[in-house]
Amino acid sequence: MLKKGDLYYPSKEFAHSAIINNKKIYKDAGKNPIKFWEGLAKELFWFKKWKKAFIHKPPYFQWFVGGKINITSNIFENNSLGWENIKNKAAIIWEPEIPEERQRVLTYYELFREVNRFANALKRLGVKKGDRVGIYLPMIPEAIISMLACARIGAIHTVVFSAFSSSALQIRLQDTKAKVLITADGYYRRAKVIDLKRNADEAIKNTKVKKMIVVKRAGNEVAWNRNRDLWWQNLVAGESDECDAQIMDAEDTLFILYTSGSTGKPKGTVQTCGGYAVQAKFTGKWIFDLRKDDIFWSTADLGWITGHTYSCYSPLLNAATFVIFEGAPNSPTPDRWARIIEKYGITIFYTAPTAVRMFKKYGADILKKYKFETLRLLSSVGEPIDESSWKWYFKEIGKNRCPVVDTWWQTETGGILITSLPGIGPFRPCFTGLPFPGLKFDIVDDKGKRVSSNKQGNLVLLPPFAPGLLRGIYRNPEKYLKTYWRQCGKKIYFTSDAALKDKNGLIRIVGRIDDVLKVAGHRFTTGELEDAVSHISYISESAVVGVLDEIKGQVPIIFVVLKETTPVEKVQKEIKLQLRKEIGPIISTKQVYIVKDLPKTRSGKIMRRILRKLFTGEELGDLSTLSNQESVEHIKSVINN
Ligand code: WT7
Repeated sequence: MLKKGDLYYPSKEFAHSAIINNKKIYKDAGKNPIKFWEGLAKELFWFKKWKKAFIHKPPYFQWFVGGKINITSNIFENNSLGWENIKNKAAIIWEPEIPEERQRVLTYYELFREVNRFANALKRLGVKKGDRVGIYLPMIPEAIISMLACARIGAIHTVVFSAFSSSALQIRLQDTKAKVLITADGYYRRAKVIDLKRNADEAIKNTKVKKMIVVKRAGNEVAWNRNRDLWWQNLVAGESDECDAQIMDAEDTLFILYTSGSTGKPKGTVQTCGGYAVQAKFTGKWIFDLRKDDIFWSTADLGWITGHTYSCYSPLLNAATFVIFEGAPNSPTPDRWARIIEKYGITIFYTAPTAVRMFKKYGADILKKYKFETLRLLSSVGEPIDESSWKWYFKEIGKNRCPVVDTWWQTETGGILITSLPGIGPFRPCFTGLPFPGLKFDIVDDKGKRVSSNKQGNLVLLPPFAPGLLRGIYRNPEKYLKTYWRQCGKKIYFTSDAALKDKNGLIRIVGRIDDVLKVAGHRFTTGELEDAVSHISYISESAVVGVLDEIKGQVPIIFVVLKETTPVEKVQKEIKLQLRKEIGPIISTKQVYIVKDLPKTRSGKIMRRILRKLFTGEELGDLSTLSNQESVEHIKSVINN
């Protein structure tokens, strides 16, 4: 890369061979974004072309209306790169948690046949177009096979992260009313078997799940209900490996993925078959410069949107070869991730800043033996990447050669929306980059008025939005309107992020303005954590705030008011257990403080801002709206004790 002032540009060689390397694309797309997206959509295979590319009845909108498509036909038999050209190349390389265990490689054709077999099995169980299917699987090829099999027959998949607890799974199964759940006996995490089936058994109580399909993965003992449970391996044994793709409307639902929203309950974001396919394919292709001969590795779990789009659909639509990894990037040794990069000759690496900070902390020593010669592009997602981590990533992993592409998006947007394109640039540490061609972002104040450059404001997206932007919150239309379409009016999508734009138009994401925390790139709300804590009988009130953490970006600290005196160690232990039970082992708190009272406004609202400042030691500002000012001194003394 070339450095000019504080901006970086791709090298001549990189730019020269990049899929997109002409700035003109921004101007052309900007002139008529609808036509721009239509041009991209035309490269996909449609059973029937759309009648109207974009319909906008604010706040509702639709893309490629009247078009008929199936995303799996675009991955397999009708892939734009030609089925004969790709069918015998590797699609998925699966790296197991235990390094000595044998990896699995599935070619496009093998994957296609497995998808069809499983799709036929689902049909035989009575799964039809529009039915919801729960997927609660570790990072194994069957997770992708399950997703694609649902898509093949028009069933709607809801993937639930395997490290989520049974309660978290249960809420999602209840909300979707899924009749089938796909899970595994267990999986490996840091060389230990995690009993996934036990969680699944617990979760399906009080749900509509009639059949549970279980992949044999870890070989651990599991409880078995003969009327309900089916081994995957037996189920698919007799199935045909051919299954016609269900013809879907562009606006039919492809999947529902839950994410944390303003209150305790997670919300099911709804993605459609047509728009999502277009955005997944072309964001991957242009932003990662992704081609058929790349070996791509996105470290995200399939349970998150990054996993859906960039550990599954996008690399498949682009006929790339990609790695999925069952384990943790630092197990059994801190350099496991580097070994995987070298072992498979990864060319494009996509991960979260929290991982970069962890690698950096281990120090350059463990990296001495790695040359990373195959890498040609590095990318980051999920939270702001700080300047020193950006530079470390660029120098130590990318060897000053690979573009470092920061990518901003959300579960709601289905695919990346803000990033500079690797063949054009510019890149600036701490800045995510330019909006993807065809997108119109603005930064506005609370009244919806545009703020000047370098001033912080609300990041909003203007029509025609993006084809992959969510169409709704499942079974909660009111929440959809309230969260995204009321702050700045019906025609503006409200991201809930604060941001600023520099004079080059590069966007810097400052952070969430709502009560969402990003802990190690994972999204939680203060509300859902407080909700979990409130189940402890002797806690009368709690408040969660996010504070900065060197590795995880943000971590929650919890303030609790007790009904009866309880030792602090006991409270801490039970809060930890409760968070595990309600959410899963991926969340823990940095600190628990027992206080007599929480700072509140006269109307009874907890002032989390004051709690945060008390923790960081910042200036508290005006306290006159507090009804219980005496609480402040008390909390200060608890924190400093
Ligand atoms: C929130 C969305 C993007 C898919 C995975 C996360 C934050 C995301 C960046 C980035 C700064 C970022 C935002 C956003 N975020 N990417 N590159 N720089 N912040 O999706 O879990 O729905 O979270 O993550 O605050 O609103 P998500």
